[in-house]
Amino acid sequence: MIEPVSASVEPESTFNINRIRRDFPILEREVRGKPLIYFDTAASAQRPLAVIDAVNNFYREHNANVHRGVHTLSQEATDLYEGGRRKLAQFINAPSEREVIFTRGTTESINLVAQSFLRPKLKPGDEILVTHMEHHSNIVPWQILCQQTGALLRVVPINQRGELEMGALQRLLSERVKMLGIVQVSNALGTINPVAEICRMAKHHGVPVLVDGAQAMPHMQVDVQALGCEFFCLSGHKMYGPTGVGALWARESTLDSMPPWQGGGEMIRHVTFEESTWNDLPAKFEAGTPNIAGGVGLGAAVDYLSKLGLPEIAAHENQVLSYATEKLAEIDGLRIIGTARDKASVISFILGDIHPHDLGTIIDHYGVALRTGHHCAMPVMQFFGVPATARVSFGLYNTQQEVDVFVDALLKVREMF
Ligand code: ALA
Repeated sequence: MIEPVSASVEPESTFNINRIRRDFPILEREVRGKPLIYFDTAASAQRPLAVIDAVNNFYREHNANVHRGVHTLSQEATDLYEGGRRKLAQFINAPSEREVIFTRGTTESINLVAQSFLRPKLKPGDEILVTHMEHHSNIVPWQILCQQTGALLRVVPINQRGELEMGALQRLLSERVKMLGIVQVSNALGTINPVAEICRMAKHHGVPVLVDGAQAMPHMQVDVQALGCEFFCLSGHKMYGPTGVGALWARESTLDSMPPWQGGGEMIRHVTFEESTWNDLPAKFEAGTPNIAGGVGLGAAVDYLSKLGLPEIAAHENQVLSYATEKLAEIDGLRIIGTARDKASVISFILGDIHPHDLGTIIDHYGVALRTGHHCAMPVMQFFGVPATARVSFGLYNTQQEVDVFVDALLKVREMF
């Protein structure tokens, strides 16, 4: 069995941030003559050498199509790709690797569930619940589905801290609701939702829950069985893996009951012009040649996160988050959007009446990469009455020293206005 290259991952006795930063070659570069400070991990994490090497090694040594060839390279490629699936399945505690469907990412996973699982079941007047803090990816697929079927989209409100109104959620749950789509960690606010508790509430009403876990995966250990959700969606590039690959998890019985979503190669067992039959899981949902190197790289990202340890990563990130929150709160005229009691690695803010885009553009001159805009969560912006925010989001490689440099830069930006 071929395993992805992981030579640059060494066991860590403690969370040694200086050593860990050396795993990320991009952190050595400068931007506009200043050391890069990458505070945009929620948009896309940087990749450690372990992931870069695994993808590189795949293309250099093993590249071929999967599941199709009897030749050596094809078998090696298949082993590596399926190895990525196996690692991911173990990482999220899926009962079986057949329950892990590789997709292009969270967005595609949600669309798959909307169209394959839910569409055949929906009738006019049925309800789909989402929350006010969802990413567009967990709103628009359901909205399209409502237009196709006459179902109704209902929204669970949030409060001024950016936390879910649990009482309202309780009231909105009913037998009419055929799906609850909920984000585990909000990309725009950083709020961590009590997803396991929410799944228990939903179960009481027979409501299946789809969890958008894109932002949760790099920050906390996810156990899909403990969460109790029907569907869990994730993206590789948010968890230090490649772009263009992600996954959908659901129980085998659920996936077996769903019709295929896309037709094509790999998902079939037998084809005639009269009819076709479908392959077993997970191939039934993986039409076409998959992102093979992506699956391999995602496996390497899982290895990397496992070696560092999610509890250690979370503890480090929480220190950086608390420190940055304190420092930002001291700045006159700075308003933090999203002050939930349980937060992960994201601070959205407004500084006086400086437009976030101006702020983002100027602060780039200090080497700081942060995101500005609506963060693909326009309803969140509407709720807080702002067109956009600036957002810093931290990864396992960020430090308090970087926060200090950023805060100094922010004060200089403020002086310019
Ligand atoms: N959803 C990504 C973000 O939060 C793109 O930035």
